Amino acid sequence: MRTQVGIIGSGPSGLLLARLLHLQGIDTVILESRSREYVASRVRAGVIEQGMADLLREAKAGERMDREGLIHEGINIAFDGRLERIDFPKHTNGKVVMVYGQTEITYDLMKAHIDEAGGIVHYEAPAIRVEGYDTESPRIIYEQNGDQKELVCDFVAGCDGFHGVARKSVPADEIKTFERTYPFGWLGILSDVPPVKEELIYANHERGFALCSMRSHTRSRYYVQCAIDDKVENWTDDAFWDELGRRLPPETAENVTTGPRLEMSITPLHSFVAEPLRFGRLFLAGDAGHIVPPTGAKGLNLAASDIYYLSRALITYYKEKRTDLLDRYSESALRRVWKAIRFSWWYTSQDKL
Ligand code: FAD
Ligand code: DHB
Repeated sequence: MRTQVGIIGSGPSGLLLARLLHLQGIDTVILESRSREYVASRVRAGVIEQGMADLLREAKAGERMDREGLIHEGINIAFDGRLERIDFPKHTNGKVVMVYGQTEITYDLMKAHIDEAGGIVHYEAPAIRVEGYDTESPRIIYEQNGDQKELVCDFVAGCDGFHGVARKSVPADEIKTFERTYPFGWLGILSDVPPVKEELIYANHERGFALCSMRSHTRSRYYVQCAIDDKVENWTDDAFWDELGRRLPPETAENVTTGPRLEMSITPLHSFVAEPLRFGRLFLAGDAGHIVPPTGAKGLNLAASDIYYLSRALITYYKEKRTDLLDRYSESALRRVWKAIRFSWWYTSQDKL
């Protein structure tokens, strides 16, 4: 099989790249190790910044987001039993954020790319490794229905998340990595109850951090910091709600509506950066190249920022035969990555604000 851009991973990075390239007449094939249903139901990010919202509109996958997403003009910080609001437009020249779930974004991208445009995604087709990335015809070796196959491409985009194979296809002496593992995780619950407040609350408390987020006016997403080795099996719904209440200012805690979980999971907190993000004709984008702790709500937004640079670089190559943007991809993407890594680390630190 042959394509122009071979994409490993059909998370938000891979789907968004495929969609933007498709709109410019560039062919892609996505290889995804999991099933479509599994990818579509993974509960993760919820807050997207203006740059990503604009990119989804450019990808013609932003219509439902504009209809159903909630525009937030600020957040609340809780500490010492107080609640303080930070006004985004006032401090950022009018910028706002959009609350719209990653599951919804993934669904919208799948519908636009696969169901409507006929884009090719092979599910349950895990990539094993990338070969020949320093030649003009890199190849992705992958598995499908028990057979080993090969996808020959002009370029390979490694959008396969932190545990993917794209980054691991590069010899260790060609890649520099920076890493911090935080000594705690976040226990998250998704529940069909109205959010405690119209905007998010980030709470600093001696028992540990807590976050009140949402997906809609009727669906809430809450997190409490937990021990690194804690397990979901240790938590009943009641235990979660009790612990959340203890970490919020009393008048906020009183207003929390509790309900049964739709989902509960633990996320370990981790910072990671790979340098560079380009190896010949192999490009890393999104979580495949960098991870931030979720505190700053930056991971998905950074993935979109990578895809912004990478899509433009590839489009300029195919339309104008120019390679300068491909050559600058790693540097441009990493400039923003390091700022987000620093911000997310600072926002995660346990000192009082
Ligand atoms: P992924 O979503 O990880 O997708 C990678 C894909 O590659 C997956 O589908 C995987 O199955 C596939 N894959 C892996 N290996 C292979 C292989 N060998 N072959 C083929 N396919 C493979 N970010 C924000 O911006 N805002 C937030 O509010 C936010 N909140 C978060 C809350 C939580 C609890 C978590 C866990 C994360 C949060 N993030 C947030 C981060 C965000 O979810 C990620 O940064 C985002 O999913 C990255 O997208 P991606 O497409 O690069 O990687
Ligand atoms: C969510 C996750 C975050 O990490 C964050 O900072 C804000 C919101 C969420 O899942 O809704």
